[in-house]
Amino acid sequence: MKVIRSIQDMKQLMRDYRTQNKQIGFVPTMGFLHEGHLNLMREAKKENDVVAASIFINPLQFGPNEDYENYPRDEQADVLQAEKAGVDVLFIPTVADMYPNPMLIQLGIKGRTDVLCGRSRPGHFDGVLTVLTKLFHIISPDKVYFGLKDAQQTAVVDALIDDLNFPIELVGLPTVRETDGLAKSSRNVNLTEQERGEAVWLYKGLQHGRQLIRRGEQNPDKIIHDVTETMNHHISGNIDYVELLSYPALEPVSSINQRIILAAAVYFERARLIDNLLLDKS
Ligand code: PAJ
Repeated sequence: MKVIRSIQDMKQLMRDYRTQNKQIGFVPTMGFLHEGHLNLMREAKKENDVVAASIFINPLQFGPNEDYENYPRDEQADVLQAEKAGVDVLFIPTVADMYPNPMLIQLGIKGRTDVLCGRSRPGHFDGVLTVLTKLFHIISPDKVYFGLKDAQQTAVVDALIDDLNFPIELVGLPTVRETDGLAKSSRNVNLTEQERGEAVWLYKGLQHGRQLIRRGEQNPDKIIHDVTETMNHHISGNIDYVELLSYPALEPVSSINQRIILAAAVYFERARLIDNLLLDKS
């Protein structure tokens, strides 16, 4: 596996692969890799000639009071794991190289972001779009791989690719979980032992909602209320939101008659965790 740190070298290497007609799969990450990331990499390996992955903690997508400084890092372990998962090229640019000057161009998304994480993290998805646009230009992948753990992000990337005509195919893959059901996340290491015990109730609360729907409950407000109650009962952290929306449009629904997302976010002391279930009309 090649580890590349400069944008120029990365562009050159990718150009070489394209000249050889290699199909390129790309997995963007912020590092501290776990099974969720590695699953995206393995899947990319199956479907492409070359797999590029990136590790870049993008300052642009963190708000002033968010965890940019506390975001976990372990580059050495990441390099070993990425190589084992089949990554051919690992791109680890510096902030100075990615953002040498304040950006004169600003990308912003209007839709799909006045709900869920977009509401509590103003500017977050603009930062995500900006860094992904830069990475897509540097790497020019044929396919990109995203996790549905961050379903709103995947919906936003879907809009980015469509609206700006990136010649890229988006692949969204299911959430990878710990054995007790907690969604894997780099941020889980910032939970205290007690919080780690409670955190599984994000998933259990959402599962409770899914059960209500399967039993025929059609009223989104009732489902949201019951899921919130379940979580509040078991979690000491503050619930940021529990929402039920159409997916991927992320619009309010009055009954469960289409593909929907049931999603939640919780603030613990040093980590904000999110989870969701995507449910098809049965
Ligand atoms: P990061 O949180 O490192 O996640 C990188 C990719 O891994 C995302 O597509 C995310 O959805 C996926 N992922 C994380 N946990 C997962 C899990 N438990 N199961 C399945 N997939 C999972 O998302 C980002 O980084 C950044 O916003 C980025 C896209 C790199 C832009 O900076």
